[in-house]
Formats: sequence, structure tokens, C-alpha cells
Amino acid sequence: FMVDKGNRRHFMEKEIHEQPEVISHTLAHYVDFVGGVSKPLDLPFDFAKIDRLAISACGTAYLAGLISKYWFERYARLPVDIDVASEFRYREMPLSKNDAAFFISQSGETADTLASLRYCRKAGMKIGAVVNVRESTMARESDVILPTLAGPEIGVASTKAFTCQLSVLASLAVRAGAARGTLSREQEKKLVRELSEAPRYANQVLKLDGQIEQIARELSRYSDVLYLGRDTNFPLAMEGALKLKEISYIHAEGYAAGELKHGPIALIDENMPVIVIAPHDRIFEKTVSNMQEVAARGGKIILITDSRGAAQSSVKTMETIILPDVPEIISPIIYALPIQMLAYFTAVFMGTDVDQPRNLAKSVTVE
Ligand code: G6P
Repeated sequence: FMVDKGNRRHFMEKEIHEQPEVISHTLAHYVDFVGGVSKPLDLPFDFAKIDRLAISACGTAYLAGLISKYWFERYARLPVDIDVASEFRYREMPLSKNDAAFFISQSGETADTLASLRYCRKAGMKIGAVVNVRESTMARESDVILPTLAGPEIGVASTKAFTCQLSVLASLAVRAGAARGTLSREQEKKLVRELSEAPRYANQVLKLDGQIEQIARELSRYSDVLYLGRDTNFPLAMEGALKLKEISYIHAEGYAAGELKHGPIALIDENMPVIVIAPHDRIFEKTVSNMQEVAARGGKIILITDSRGAAQSSVKTMETIILPDVPEIISPIIYALPIQMLAYFTAVFMGTDVDQPRNLAKSVTVE
């Protein structure tokens, strides 16, 4: 069927704005909001009986997987091995028949991810495919389809598929925690309630577009940008850098904030803005000291935080984007939005082809 841009300039913009709705749709597939439980999906394996989860994917889908590692390990005490699919398929990691493997892909056709899936099938593992296209090859070749209900995604740079992947994986981590007994009934209920709040917060964040557009205007004058974050905001920092370089062609890197001193600090000066993704979480203070290191070297900081974070950081920033105070489990879903909007508006200011950036394809079906 036909998909059009509606009244938006680009598909990417339209898809960014669809997120509250598609996140809500996707979550409803995996959790029962009324009962406060994660749905007992018809899985071909038992979360309580596996020792490990192997995850592999490419690009933005890989970064969704990397965020989910924090969730599965934190909430379900389930170790996760995650690799980009092009490494996974060749690195000869030990695989066990008793473990499960998840493959994350918007298209369900990415060559390296598909090859990793077949590799795990050969090893006798149970296969779950987190895909947006239900008729895809990965969907067909998996034991269970774990759909993202994002609807067709046209923009080459993934946005709504990413936050829907996160919604699926967060729900599954809660499911795994319930199954493995690492979450009490009360904890499960609380997490499900927190997940249910994601669409509303996403809506609030979209209203910051005016401010984010102004920051993007500024950002478009630089040729290098560094993104920093800790915990789930570390993969999100990499996602921010990926989005920016993909569509605006500005060189960007995403780093774990704690690694700043092991390399990127050498690059800090007034010509490299540093985007710090730091909600007021358990390690917020650590990130504040990284910001101090940046500020002391004349680095310009764009801080993405919440009201508590803004109040408690004494570091001078060039700009501060204040998001609502959100529960920890949905924080990567909500913080993904300003990251996407920043890349989007920057690309618009640069005058690039936002939906069809040069040299990139929506789905890479060759190795
Ligand atoms: C390409 C796209 C990315 C996407 C990646 C993986 O590089 O440009 O947006 O994240 O492929 O695609 P998949 O369909 O497997 O999620």
C-alpha cells in the first residue's frame, strides 16, 4: 500500500512523530497494562532454563540490542552476548543448544544478520526474530517472530523501528525477569506500569522540537561532534553519533563517558561540541565529572538531562535540553527522541537528502 509523508517535509520527520503511537501499539503486544504483567508469549524456549542469550544485528538495530543487554542482565540476571552480525558469523564463539539467540532487524533481510541467524540455527539454538517486516526471510526462518509494530519505515535512517525494538526488548527483559524469579510480582507490576508511560513522555519530548531545531542550527556549523553517555546512554551515544553522521555527514563519535580520558579527551577544544546524554540516574555524578573535564578544556557541552539533572549539575553548558523525569526502564526510549531530532534538524540545515543519504541503503542484502 501507499505510504505518504502527510504534511511533513520528510519521511524521517513523520516517522519521528509517529513514535508515541507505534511504541504504544508495540508495548500492548507484549505487556498487559491492566493486569500489570508481561504477556506469556508462546516462546520456543523457557527464559528460566537458558544460561545465556546471544544477540546479533547491524547498525541501529545492533545498538537496540546493546541497550537490551543492560536490561536482560539487570532485570533478569540473564547474561547476554552481543555482536554486530558481521563479527558474530565469523568469530567462532561457543554456542549452546540450550541457549536462545535473538536477531534484531527492521527489514528482516540484512545479509549479515540473516547469515548469523542461519549459523545459530545450525548450532541447534532456538531463534527469535525481532523484525518489523513480518513476511521477511528472518521472520520465516525463526522459531518465534517478535514483531515491532512500527508500520512501514521509509527513511533510511531508522527512528521508529529503533524505539519499537527497544519497546519489545524491554518488555521481554521484564518477561525474562518474571520467568527467572529475579523480579518479584510487585517489581514486575511496577515495571509494566512504567513501560505504559512511555508514549505519553514521548509525546511531551516531541514538543521540544523548537528548541532542538535551534540547537541543530548551531551544531550544523561544526565538523566534529562527540556524544557521551553511561549505562544504557552509552549505546544511545553511539546511536546519536550514527544518526548524525548518516544524515548530516558531520563526523561524530559516541563514547562511554568513562572512556573520555582514554582517548577522545585529546580532541576536546572549542571546535568540538560534546553532547552528553545524562538523566539523573545512579551514576549521574560520574558523568558530571566527565563534563567538568570537558568544560575545563574549553569544550562546548550540550547536555540532555531531566530537571533533577539540570538542577544538580554545576557545569556550564552551551545548551541544556530538559526532558521529563522518566523511570529508568523507559529512559533509552525517551532519550532516543531528542537524539533523532537533533540529527534530523542538523541534516535539514546542512541541506542533505535526509530520507536517502548518500551511499546508504535502507536494507543491505549483500555482505
Ligand atoms: C542499514 C540502514 C540502517 C539499519 C541497518 C540494519 O544500514 O541504513 O538504518 O539500522 O541497515 O538494518 P535492519 O533492516 O537489519 O534493521
